[in-house]
Amino acid sequence: MKTLYQKSFLKFSDFTYEEILYLIKLSKLVKRQKHNNTEQKHLKGKKIVLIFEKQSTRTRCAFEIAANDQGAYTTYIGPNDTHIGYKESIQDSAKILGQMYDGIQYRGYYDNILQNLKKYSNKPVWNGLTNTFHPTQILADLFTMIEACPNKKLQDIRCAYVGDAQNNIANTLLDAATFMKLKINIISPKIYQPKKIFLLKSNKKKINNTNISFTNDVKKGVENVDFIYTDVWVSMGENKDVWKKKINALYPYQVNQNMLDMTKNSNVKVLHCLPALHDKQSSLGLEIHNQFNINNGLEISNEVFNSPVNISFQQSENRLHTIKALLISCLSKKIFFKNKN
Ligand code: CP
Ligand code: NVA
Repeated sequence: MKTLYQKSFLKFSDFTYEEILYLIKLSKLVKRQKHNNTEQKHLKGKKIVLIFEKQSTRTRCAFEIAANDQGAYTTYIGPNDTHIGYKESIQDSAKILGQMYDGIQYRGYYDNILQNLKKYSNKPVWNGLTNTFHPTQILADLFTMIEACPNKKLQDIRCAYVGDAQNNIANTLLDAATFMKLKINIISPKIYQPKKIFLLKSNKKKINNTNISFTNDVKKGVENVDFIYTDVWVSMGENKDVWKKKINALYPYQVNQNMLDMTKNSNVKVLHCLPALHDKQSSLGLEIHNQFNINNGLEISNEVFNSPVNISFQQSENRLHTIKALLISCLSKKIFFKNKN
């Protein structure tokens, strides 16, 4: 495996199979070291800028804490804080940030912004979520699946993704599945199945995709899976007007006890990148539950969310460790494991 030093992570397939396994192995190491208070700092003096054009809790905090734990300095730039893209072009902004920082995290709308940041800053750029992809999330998810299935190889783990299969999480799972050989069943009504244009791009890589299946039949799709993964039905940046149409189409795809029973696997676990709309305790949750006369969660029922099958908080913690592994690997020359894994 070549070193990841100075590499960007704009989409999951920017890295190879070996590189992803290396990052997962390093995530395991830094997680153990953090828990044991034996962590070493590999990024002393490094400077990282965090650009957020959309809201965030986990991704922002994971980047900040990971950098801080490793001795690096961060600057957070929120949605209304800069000239970037409004009074100053992405090109000009990237040149300036590239002079001052060693790496750039970007969360926003369009992938071409990531590409321009990379091109004009000449520094590693990491995608913290766009409309199309969320690669740092899926890195944490694969690590979490491996932790939760210690006796299975990654390729033998079976995961169902259920709900809106046109969003950044579904796209990134598909991108990852193509070369990580993950067994993924995409379960969604026809109108929210992955867009053809996206699948064509995946197929162009001429990778055997027989490990990925698509269905609108929940019972068929979830049978014998190890994990059910879901995400919000309306993503950041989508118009609120789509809620009605999406609830009508996606309500039969809610992750609830009935769906868990259909897996016929008493050890099945539920994944969710979070935030989740499972109750009325957030203002958006309250608004949508009341507006559409719903009482027990949207993409996931409150009972399932609050039960031990839900391992989404383990996923959240793993955002920290996987982002830390990414930063260490891209900003320092240290190689932790020589073998192929
Ligand atoms: N899962 C995730 O990316 O969460 P945030 O939007 O809080 O960063
Ligand atoms: N699909 C969601 C993911 C949030 C982490 C969104 O883009 O809002």
